[in-house]
Amino acid sequence: TLEGREVLTVEGLSRGRAGEGRGALHPVQAAMVAAGGSQCGYCTPGFVMSLFAAYYESALSEATAPHDAIGGNLCRCTGYLPIRRAMATLEPPAPDDPFRARLAAYTASAAEPQPETGARTEPQDPDRRVFLPRTLAEAFGLLERHPEAKLVAGATDLGLELSHKRLADPVLVSLERVAELRRFEVAQDALTIGAGLPLSHLQVQLRTRLAGVFPALEAMLGQFAARQVRNRATLGGNLGTASPIGDLSPVLLALEAELLLAGAGGERRVSAATFFTGYRQSARRPGEVIVGAR
Ligand code: FES
Repeated sequence: TLEGREVLTVEGLSRGRAGEGRGALHPVQAAMVAAGGSQCGYCTPGFVMSLFAAYYESALSEATAPHDAIGGNLCRCTGYLPIRRAMATLEPPAPDDPFRARLAAYTASAAEPQPETGARTEPQDPDRRVFLPRTLAEAFGLLERHPEAKLVAGATDLGLELSHKRLADPVLVSLERVAELRRFEVAQDALTIGAGLPLSHLQVQLRTRLAGVFPALEAMLGQFAARQVRNRATLGGNLGTASPIGDLSPVLLALEAELLLAGAGGERRVSAATFFTGYRQSARRPGEVIVGAR
């Protein structure tokens, strides 16, 4: 999932600020120090990175509610108040902020950064275990050649299976780079949500384009895990696991949604009410991918 991406860690934030020399604190780090918001060495880096993301997102999209930004950072050893005070003192990033342009480029570009190595869908390599198709057609081809493969999107569920060693060395077909799965299409009589749209993006789309039209869905997404999880989790993944604790299925059932399933042979629709057939079992057939809900 990190191929072709740039990873910023807390250690990387303080470096290279123009004119301030190596080691100068990033404004969110400085604010945390000044407000007495720092905690232990596990929690503070997490809070700083969440604040760092919010610091730029609020400037770029105004989509971040301040408290939502740190909703996934749970430790309360020293209380939230100093951290919230630190947030409140933050000024928008300066025009010459070294991170601003880089992050804006990522945010603005619908196109994913392309890996330099390429060939990630190359099926001939017998040792390859992870595939990153760019199109649905590529994904269908991979599923045909690797019928045992597991589909993965944000890996918020499958990642647990892997880290708890309940799943040994699986073949994975990751759908997160398939642009066709990220649609949000508003028509006269229906809304179609792509299965690969991260839930935080879905929240922003609903808020900015359809505010108040699906109040139950909007309200539920606000309660769905925490922001870091919603940045990764997708509608398709949440339904595809067919877990009885999947948070999206009740609201989709109530909305009488239809799920769109596609395979090499074409697309079909299945009502949300008939999609789940048992514990972690669904009507999705081998070789099929959930492409969306409407
Ligand atoms: Fe880290 Fe509480 S400050 S566990």
